[in-house]
Amino acid sequence: MHPETIRVPLASSGLEVEDIDAVVTTLKSNSLTMGQKVREFESSMSRYLGARHFVMMNSGSSANLAIIESLLRPTSGIPRLRRGDGVLVPAIAWPTTIWPIVQLGLKPVFIDVDPESASLDLNAAEELLSQDSHGVRAIFPIHPLGWAMSPTGLEDFCRRHSLVLISDVCEALGSWRENVHAGLSSLASSFSFYFSHHITTMEGGGVATNDDALADDLRSIRSHGWSRDRSDAKSWLSHGNDINSKFLFVSTGYNVRPMELQAALGLGQISRIDNYINTRRQIASRVHEAITNTALHLMGSNTLRNDPQSHSWMLLPIRTKSTVSALKIVEHLESVGIETRPILTGNFTAQPSIRRILGEDLDAKSFINANLISSQCFMVGCHHHFTEGQITHLVESLRYAARNLGDVS
Ligand SMILES: Cc1ncc(COP(=O)(O)O)c(C=O)c1O
Repeated sequence: MHPETIRVPLASSGLEVEDIDAVVTTLKSNSLTMGQKVREFESSMSRYLGARHFVMMNSGSSANLAIIESLLRPTSGIPRLRRGDGVLVPAIAWPTTIWPIVQLGLKPVFIDVDPESASLDLNAAEELLSQDSHGVRAIFPIHPLGWAMSPTGLEDFCRRHSLVLISDVCEALGSWRENVHAGLSSLASSFSFYFSHHITTMEGGGVATNDDALADDLRSIRSHGWSRDRSDAKSWLSHGNDINSKFLFVSTGYNVRPMELQAALGLGQISRIDNYINTRRQIASRVHEAITNTALHLMGSNTLRNDPQSHSWMLLPIRTKSTVSALKIVEHLESVGIETRPILTGNFTAQPSIRRILGEDLDAKSFINANLISSQCFMVGCHHHFTEGQITHLVESLRYAARNLGDVS
């Protein structure tokens, strides 16, 4: 086959026949709304992550929303956050990491990113807080594209600044650093199982936490504020009211419940996740070898030798040398069937939506590394179901582009 006829998409469905069979069986069982399959998937996820609880939801975005809601309006104890508090977030971000903070009356405080991983740069955060606290009470880092931030680094930072640590792990399932799954040293961490991620439930996501009370609140919040799915549901009945126990609402809430079909689809995949991640690491290694010492660099490739477990490669982020036109490389790759995209949204502070909300107070140009990542970097796919033909085409096309295309100096 001529290489130009091979397409290398950013993502594939990743479904096996048995996953589809599991969905059909679930459909035929007539059990459609949240129930036994969701509970089974939650147990599998808890076991895999080493978390006490996993609360499945209908997306990673909903997981982020539910986390923020749970910190503002817990059913017991003092709220960990209050309206107006600042939350540190990375300048390279996904919109729905930021929007729940804005929507629920908190203030995102953007921090530039580390140029190699695109994750929130704790040194830059340290510098900002040394000048002014900005009312910051929490930090919400993203573990981008499979790269696990150091749990001890994050914990130490939060201890010194008395911050609540929550993590967006929507892109880093299967990534472990210092023997802890990415984000799991946080009070709560969000996951996404959207189509393009390490496993897919079509749409889907959830929150991992080791905090029993928080897990109960998340179960209420995902389902209208209902008491039903809480471990302490019975204790709410003794609150001296005569409300029907089946219709007892104990917190604020949304409807962000998952369906049984989604859980049925995820169950098989989570049992195969280690193979998936190994395949992704092998693809990353081959791409890294092909472009080492050229005009292109695989961001995060130092982990391949030093700490392979700490990266699960959702996609492959590639930086072009400053003397090379990223645009020219991207155009070439697209012309030979290799799909590309920016790193997340690029510098999120430059997006019109965030500028409209935070106005001129925010100088997008001041996030120097985020801007470099916007202008000099792009991503290609790294899916565990790529065929050998697709992987070879990806590797060879990148090798060709890295060695032959456009020095603009
Ligand atoms: C870092 C990050 N956070 C949150 C989300 C939202 O997840 P979902 O698409 O499941 O709503 C995504 C989606 O890709 C993401 O990349």
